[in-house]
Amino acid sequence: MGLLSSVISICVLFFLITSSTAKTSPSKPHALVLPLAKDASTGQYITHISRGTPSVPVKLTVDLGGRSLWVDCDQGYVSSSYKPAHCGSAQCSLADFHSCWDCFNGPKPGCNNNTCLLFPYNAVTQSSTIGELAQDVVSLQSTDGSNPGQIVSSSKALFACGSTSLLEGLANGVKGIAGLGRGKVGLPSQLASAFSIKRKFAICPGSSGVIFFGDSPYNFLPGKDISKSLTYTPLFINPVRTGGTSFEGEPSAEYFIGVKSIKINGKPVSINSTLLTIKEGNGGTKISTVDPYTKLETSIYNAFTKAFVKAFAGVPRVKAVPPFGACFNSSNLPSTRVGPPVPTIDFVLQSKTVFWRMFGVNSMVPVKEDVLCLGFVDGGVEPRTSIVTGVHQIEDNLLQFDLARSVLGFSSTLLFQQTTCSNFNFTIKA
Ligand SMILES: *[C@@H]1O[C@H](CO)[C@@H](O)[C@H](O)[C@H]1NC(C)=O
Ligand SMILES: *[C@@H]1O[C@H](CO)[C@@H](O)[C@H](O)[C@H]1NC(C)=O
Ligand SMILES: *[C@@H]1O[C@H](CO)[C@@H](O)[C@H](O)[C@H]1NC(C)=O
Ligand SMILES: *[C@@H]1O[C@H](CO)[C@@H](O)[C@H](O)[C@H]1NC(C)=O
Repeated sequence: MGLLSSVISICVLFFLITSSTAKTSPSKPHALVLPLAKDASTGQYITHISRGTPSVPVKLTVDLGGRSLWVDCDQGYVSSSYKPAHCGSAQCSLADFHSCWDCFNGPKPGCNNNTCLLFPYNAVTQSSTIGELAQDVVSLQSTDGSNPGQIVSSSKALFACGSTSLLEGLANGVKGIAGLGRGKVGLPSQLASAFSIKRKFAICPGSSGVIFFGDSPYNFLPGKDISKSLTYTPLFINPVRTGGTSFEGEPSAEYFIGVKSIKINGKPVSINSTLLTIKEGNGGTKISTVDPYTKLETSIYNAFTKAFVKAFAGVPRVKAVPPFGACFNSSNLPSTRVGPPVPTIDFVLQSKTVFWRMFGVNSMVPVKEDVLCLGFVDGGVEPRTSIVTGVHQIEDNLLQFDLARSVLGFSSTLLFQQTTCSNFNFTIKA
């Protein structure tokens, strides 16, 4: 029985893979690339993917832990290649759909009979709706790791139809969310099967930035391949859904790492280690691209802030500027290549010698003239996840997620390597 169902699912998967590659461009890409822009008013990372027939670029907020791609089908979705996924189809089983429905105001994109439903999720407002599963053409640029190249298309990209109301809280002009989560309908797995590329992606967020799908190199001007200087740590699967991004009984689509301790200037901060392991879905450390600053569970936050203030005792404190709890007078601080010279923060991982080190540029936030705040916020008592690493802490860091091996490669700040995430050469090479 178990064997039979796995044979069936392998056949289904094979069908999806072969049918999608058959319709893409003849030359198989090595990797794909998407541009990232930081939206000034919300701090969200935005990308563009072309979809439909005729092909139109849509602006999407990037959610690293998002379960799937979803777009607003209520307004302005016009495409002759839009196909709803019908109940009982291979697409529905791949997406672990929730239930089937009939929609009486159609047929139109987002409203068809006998289709399966997903829950498109907005991680910014933490809300979701129901929406039909559909497929359409998506196009993006291939890359050799140094420049974008030829545009490639897949006619089988699966996504959920969201509604216009679900766009609330997203940056201006955004029409949906690009979910990079670890599941089968996450963008990385879908692109990997559609284009026969490695089940791997790398994200480099900065004042602008880049996402690579597939294998390295990841070349940044002036000619640095960042894949050569990564440190690796295991990714953990949280068996319980988190943040509305997956269904009951399905593991979380988010990316968890095993932080074992935190050190400031090399000295361990005293924290309750129970909070750092995942137990029944609670605790642990995840990486987020929708939280602007790293959130620490209250007791960790208090111990961490206290230890940082102590290590930074030579610099006068000033009144805290919310949401931050510790701010300093920076008028006498010089600047360095990696930001203001402040105590280093290490997230110690699988062993003492493997740590993610943060320097001033990632740990501190200049809030106004002469005022610099520790850029971590209180995540509250008993949050689902104890440490949520936010955008400010990963800016100008390259993070590579290898889904096949379940490993994260991270660079620490690229400023030490005299480059930034904005230094990918987006000039098209013919
Ligand atoms: C869906 O099916 C119902 C009958 O069950 C029918 O009245 C309706 O017109 C159909 N809608 C579409 C979009 O086909
Ligand atoms: C550590 O955290 C766990 C989980 O929240 C809690 O049950 C336990 O009482 C805490 N231990 C201490 C010493 O505070
Ligand atoms: C910071 O310190 C300088 C003196 O070193 C002082 O003139 C200035 O007013 C202080 N700024 C704040 C915001 O406290
Ligand atoms: C960016 O790539 C283009 C195309 O390969 C090349 O002509 C150009 O010199 C590159 N830019 C820089 C700054 O190296």
